[in-house]
Amino acid sequence: MAQEALHWLAIRPDGTYVDATAGAGGHSALIAALLDTGRLVSLDRDATAVAMAGERLKNFPQACVVHANYSDLNQVLRDEDIHGVDGVLIDAGVSSMQIDRAERGFSFQEDGPLDMRMDPGSGPSAAEWLASVSEEALAAALRDLGDVGPARRIAKVILERQRAGRMNRTGDLAAAVRDTLDFVRGEPGEVRTVFQAVRIAVNRELECLRRGLEAAVDVLNPGGRLVVISFHSGEDRVVKDAFRAWSRLEKELTRDGRVRSVRGPRLRLPVSGPVTPSEDEARLNPRAKSAKMRVAERRAAAAIEE
Ligand SMILES: C[S@@+](CC[C@H](N)C(=O)[O-])C[C@H]1O[C@@H](n2cnc3c(N)ncnc32)[C@H](O)[C@@H]1O
Repeated sequence: MAQEALHWLAIRPDGTYVDATAGAGGHSALIAALLDTGRLVSLDRDATAVAMAGERLKNFPQACVVHANYSDLNQVLRDEDIHGVDGVLIDAGVSSMQIDRAERGFSFQEDGPLDMRMDPGSGPSAAEWLASVSEEALAAALRDLGDVGPARRIAKVILERQRAGRMNRTGDLAAAVRDTLDFVRGEPGEVRTVFQAVRIAVNRELECLRRGLEAAVDVLNPGGRLVVISFHSGEDRVVKDAFRAWSRLEKELTRDGRVRSVRGPRLRLPVSGPVTPSEDEARLNPRAKSAKMRVAERRAAAAIEE
């Protein structure tokens, strides 16, 4: 959905833009090519992606690539001495580059260490997370982040094997799911959804997304656009709920429930629902099939005090 994202970002050659999820730098290069005196700050929490995007953008002096989590966007922009931006793009989730490298531990098809961190230098790996989580919390994560039906049964087997020292490789996790559902013929769909749920939990993806959206709305200039592409219903729900809440009057209540202050809507929604990929794009790129793009525009601040 690169062209749709560019269309809705409405790039101005003198504007300042953020690509919060640089990946291999595909979207960043398209944005940078439209800039003249403008600036582009691209970030990624994965150092490998930062190196690749840096290489791709090396001939664009108006672009820089920073190794950071987009939930820290405010700090990144302060460090760059940028105090307002005209557009932010978030292309959330995992990249094919990460999934395709078995050693990163995202793939259920190829065996590798059970890692799954987008930033291997920060926080626990998937194996470490599974060593610390309770059966209830794991089952809840599988249900909420992967829509896994038999979440309780799968969580029990994963943690039994973890305690027996048999949960160190992606192959161990995939086998735990298959063996729990051994009456299912072929590869059970739950292998993919369990991996998705563990990945989202390990990288705290929904929490980062909430904080990233807050930071982006905070730093957008009036008229600036926020474009978010997500691949999972949980991510899309976070975006939809935030956009809805911020495009209405926001009331701050006192402890006893009285209205302390009212803030005018911070966002306008140029398209009300999600934009989805064309049939052609979904056919060409099966991973894009579940993508949803949402767009919001920053309104001028309008605080209405009580
Ligand atoms: C779908 S890919 C982006 C692909 C990119 N738009 C391109 O054109 O190549 C998602 C990227 O976002 C990064 N990412 C995910 N969550 C992030 C976060 N909270 N902060 C920074 N980067 C993040 C991942 O490491 C991954 O490289």
